[in-house]
Amino acid sequence: MENKDQSANSTFNHMRSKLSFGRMVDMAAEMGMDNPLFRCHERAAKATTLIEGREYINFSTYDYLDINTHPEITEAVTATAKVYGTSAGASRLVGGERPQHRLLEKALADFYEVEDCIIYVSGHATNVSTLGYLFGKRDVIFQDGLAHNSLLQGARLAGAARFTYAHNDCDALEKMLAEKRHEFKHAIIVTEGLFSMDGNIPDLPRIIALKKRYNCMLLVDEAHSFGILGQTGRGVREYFGINPRDVDMWMSTMSKTLCGCGGFICGSHELIDFLKYGSPGFVYSVGMPPVIAQACLTALDILKREPERVHKLQKISQFFLHYAQSKGLDTGQAQGYAVVPVIIGNSWVTGFLSQALFKRGIYVMPISFPAVKEGTARLRFFISAAHEEEHVIKAIDAIIEERPNAEAIVDKYKQEHPDVFTDY
Ligand SMILES: Cc1ncc(COP(=O)(O)O)c(C=O)c1O
Repeated sequence: MENKDQSANSTFNHMRSKLSFGRMVDMAAEMGMDNPLFRCHERAAKATTLIEGREYINFSTYDYLDINTHPEITEAVTATAKVYGTSAGASRLVGGERPQHRLLEKALADFYEVEDCIIYVSGHATNVSTLGYLFGKRDVIFQDGLAHNSLLQGARLAGAARFTYAHNDCDALEKMLAEKRHEFKHAIIVTEGLFSMDGNIPDLPRIIALKKRYNCMLLVDEAHSFGILGQTGRGVREYFGINPRDVDMWMSTMSKTLCGCGGFICGSHELIDFLKYGSPGFVYSVGMPPVIAQACLTALDILKREPERVHKLQKISQFFLHYAQSKGLDTGQAQGYAVVPVIIGNSWVTGFLSQALFKRGIYVMPISFPAVKEGTARLRFFISAAHEEEHVIKAIDAIIEERPNAEAIVDKYKQEHPDVFTDY
């Protein structure tokens, strides 16, 4: 008789065969491509990083403002750990709060100039739990075609009707609202402040006008625009000069500019109270470790005090965009703020290109289907205030030089294995 372990294994393997990503990794190995994922870094990843004793120029960190490892944060975190330890111990509802929770929520609400804020232990869970809790079967969610996975999962959990409008196409959104809004009780439009794969910005003033006309709520996910857009890093609202109260939920993560972990929603006092007493990812999950809350609070102080970091990031991002374009590279719709993709198209070529860059001491991740549409695989560059022009020039020049080699490897393999090759 088959033992229990084997049967569990075969059930899992049957499931796994559905995952095209696993197949891609296996095929890549057969073609001679190292798996670029899950590499272990030997120090904080800044403009450069250290992997297996070798230094790389690093374009894969969320530390957009070059704040991680700031001595002020390390000192504040150490002092907090001495008093509060490293765990909040339980959900804040039952285990109680620590001063860092309250201070961080107050600081974020003030930063957004709205009434209140709730912090969750994960950015992804913030979207899942908030949307999943607030909306239900009689409601409708209108989402941008490139909305982040966490927003999609939240909408799914809500069980509400979902309509996806073409990326950043407000005409398409308006048409959908006109056709569908009246069929549902509550409605929400969901967008991002700066899109995480394409590095472009939505027409927020128009979306606000639409949300008002069609009586919808609006959630803006600022994971990649908080601390990045606007003269003082106050995000997409500062970029457009928007009244902060015109958006019902300002969402962002604390894993990026704030160098910590977790997510938050800023909004009205009533909304935040409602979430604090009911949202499952808050009520049934442990409170944020006080040390992390302290790290984020200190990072926010640095951001407010040193807007020059924001300016430096914007300047080097613009340089990256224009230099890449001047060399004929396809940067899609990127606007030159922290995230700039170099779109290659074919996933295999993108993978080999990333590998070639790695060999030359440049660390940048290939992104392919299912994270982006098939045929739009890319090298996604996260740019940081710590980068210098010479880092950018080295990376772009290396792409230009290595791309033909990467294409040749894939073409050769295709010709030699026409029966097994799957074009992604
Ligand atoms: C737009 C967007 N929202 C939410 C998240 C989730 O945030 P976290 O990684 O902090 O959980 C991400 C993560 O990258 C993101 O890009």
